Amino acid sequence: MTEKILAAQPLPGLKRAGFTSGFGVLAATLGSAVGLGNIWKVPYLTGANGGAGFLLVYLLATLLVGLPVMIAEIAMGRQARANPVSALQKLAPRGQPWWLIGVAGIVAAFLILSFYSEVVAWVFAYVFKALRGSLLSSDRQVTEAAFAALISDPLQSLLWQWGVLAFIGSILLLGVTKGIEAITKKLMPILFLLLLLLCAFSLSLDKAAEGLAFLFKPDFGKITASVVLTAMGLAFFKLSIGMGTMMTYGSYFGDGQNIPVTAARVMVADLCVSMLAGMAIFPAVFTFGFAPTAGPSLVFITLPAVFSHMPMGQALMVAFFVLAAVAATGAMLSLMEVPVVVLHERLGWSRPKATLASLLVLMLLGSGCALSNNVLADFKPWGMTLFDLFDFVSSNLLLPAGGIFIALFAGWAWRGEGLKRALSNHGQLRNETLARALVVLLRYVSPLLILLVMLKGLGLF
Ligand code: TRP
Repeated sequence: MTEKILAAQPLPGLKRAGFTSGFGVLAATLGSAVGLGNIWKVPYLTGANGGAGFLLVYLLATLLVGLPVMIAEIAMGRQARANPVSALQKLAPRGQPWWLIGVAGIVAAFLILSFYSEVVAWVFAYVFKALRGSLLSSDRQVTEAAFAALISDPLQSLLWQWGVLAFIGSILLLGVTKGIEAITKKLMPILFLLLLLLCAFSLSLDKAAEGLAFLFKPDFGKITASVVLTAMGLAFFKLSIGMGTMMTYGSYFGDGQNIPVTAARVMVADLCVSMLAGMAIFPAVFTFGFAPTAGPSLVFITLPAVFSHMPMGQALMVAFFVLAAVAATGAMLSLMEVPVVVLHERLGWSRPKATLASLLVLMLLGSGCALSNNVLADFKPWGMTLFDLFDFVSSNLLLPAGGIFIALFAGWAWRGEGLKRALSNHGQLRNETLARALVVLLRYVSPLLILLVMLKGLGLF
């Protein structure tokens, strides 16, 4: 099997699709970065890790590790104009097995999608429940019971998840230009509009200042080693790096696209989305006397209770979960595109066939996660439910390992020269100083820092 994959060369005459405009590139790439990470992970991790101090460390991690690796991935993808497996084969010195990063990336994509699609399933279910008004209660116990009822029902969990997967698959069937680019171009502006609306409401509440202070006034005493490492893991997940997503999207970038500038824009816009989400959530949480430290349940249990206290609470709650659904859609498109394009280009399958095959695998693997809160709750290989196991293996093993090897590849195996040439658009842009700084970061700083995250994630120190 491996040999067959290896032997398969890019098919002659296969015309590669790509993003057609600067705005399309930005929307699709930002669409990948923005996701449940911003709406769900950043707020709860910030809440649980002491607020502004955590954000500050996250910002540093994004600049020192996230941005360099993201730029490298995009540059590698565009240079090779191929899926991650083929791209690494093309760019690597003869005989070196760097393409294994691409293979690990496909595994990571399936694992992440399996649990991610289940959380997205809850989001979609919440949109409908919010519309019906059945979630609105000021009593946290009631909102907790509503959430428990959803995740403990195997049929609901499965159907919502499969619905979500089919929805994403059907967009991918339309292709890179008419599917991914066209849809994200529409979704991203809607996302910003909804966010601004929710923010405006939240900031007009009584204790908005308290929420803002929690978000923006760092308490340096709360920054511990483990906070630093959590923040770095988040920086990774946020920018969709370490598994070939950005490499794949890079392969759709136009030749004239300024990669460092685009990546920096995406990073800044993604940060803005996270901050706006925080500014929409924390003022409300403080105003109505809830704890900002609720953890992963913040969005699904605390927030519905918060909304019930607000004027127009139901409409705002619908808006919030639609916002989360919109954000998650762009992220899932980018995740699923990785196996689709690999199957398409390596095995010569048509895009529809590759999409359907990926979809089938995902429905199978994903149901392990959908059922892990009910029927399979007691099935715990290595002491974790499948949901937690998939999250653990992808976030703590595959993504950081992928990140380390991508950084090492771009910094060493590509000899820095390849990166410099790709970033300057083959001499058209004058950015050697920037490229030189990136090479230093990619050679030494990023791999070492990521290694620390990984060891911590494995509980090795
Ligand atoms: N960045 C997305 C989010 O924050 C998730 C995501 C999309 C992702 N593609 C990825 C995470 C690739 C890791 C790797 O929700």
